[in-house]
Amino acid sequence: MQHKVKKAVFPVAGQGTRFLPATKAVPKEIMTLVDRPLIQYAIDEARAAGIEEFIFVTSRGKGALEDYFDHAPELEASLAAKGKTALLKVLRETYMDSGAIAYVRQHQALGLGHAVWCARHLIGNEPFAVLLPDDVIAADKPCLQQMVEAYAESGGNMVAAMEVPADRVSSYGVLDVPAGICPVLPVRGMVEKPAPGTEPSNLAVIGRYILSPQVLTHLDSQQTGAGGEIQLTDAIAQEIARAGNVRGFRFEGQRYDCGSKAGFLQATLAFGLARDELREELEEFLFDMVAMRQAAQ
Ligand code: G1P
Repeated sequence: MQHKVKKAVFPVAGQGTRFLPATKAVPKEIMTLVDRPLIQYAIDEARAAGIEEFIFVTSRGKGALEDYFDHAPELEASLAAKGKTALLKVLRETYMDSGAIAYVRQHQALGLGHAVWCARHLIGNEPFAVLLPDDVIAADKPCLQQMVEAYAESGGNMVAAMEVPADRVSSYGVLDVPAGICPVLPVRGMVEKPAPGTEPSNLAVIGRYILSPQVLTHLDSQQTGAGGEIQLTDAIAQEIARAGNVRGFRFEGQRYDCGSKAGFLQATLAFGLARDELREELEEFLFDMVAMRQAAQ
């Protein structure tokens, strides 16, 4: 059985309506945390995990994403002429090897499962990762790398998981797992956005997956689920029923939900505070803000 994961799918077709009006002109994935687009964090994480082929599932209006990963010879030449070597390095780190990145369009917004299924011919018959760029995870060892290492031992399928507060569970895919604190858990079932009170646990799926190609075959039926969408969770649940080889992986790290405004702002602050050149100024500003708000209460 092949356990090396070389391909990753990045579903980036969503309209990002929660960030309107910005997303009228800018794909959500290009929005920046400090100075790096959301998608760059996901790409960096995939690269650190040994991914060699990057498959973007895009939609209309996402051209800026393709441009972002293109080489920029004019910019490079002008930075070089001015001797701006640090910036040149920053620029070159975003370059992808020729042919390493492929784009496929999702022509209709039919759900995450459908988006991944759109990449089936590029994935072929091998295990693949899926990274949802909205979920940004700060960790000493990048989340997907943690998973790839655990997966090398186990094979099958693996989904990143995290305990979430009771009132948030129904926003996620949720795992039915035995009680325990182990990082790797056998999954007995999986349900997308369970109605409050029906959730099997408070262990939610976070946007990192390592999947076998069998999951794609379950998506062939184009069956709709929660919210009338074709759900990746349902296809994985079918694979649990068929082969029982899905594991939940409690990763180490701090996850930010950059699909929400509050999460995006929190990530901006956290990544800003993690930068040596910004920390002091930002901390001072935050202390002052909090003090001012407290004084006004
Ligand atoms: C998607 C998945 C869900 C998962 C979540 C993680 O939901 O469908 O299973 O828990 O990402 O962020 P969405 O956020 O697109 O509603």
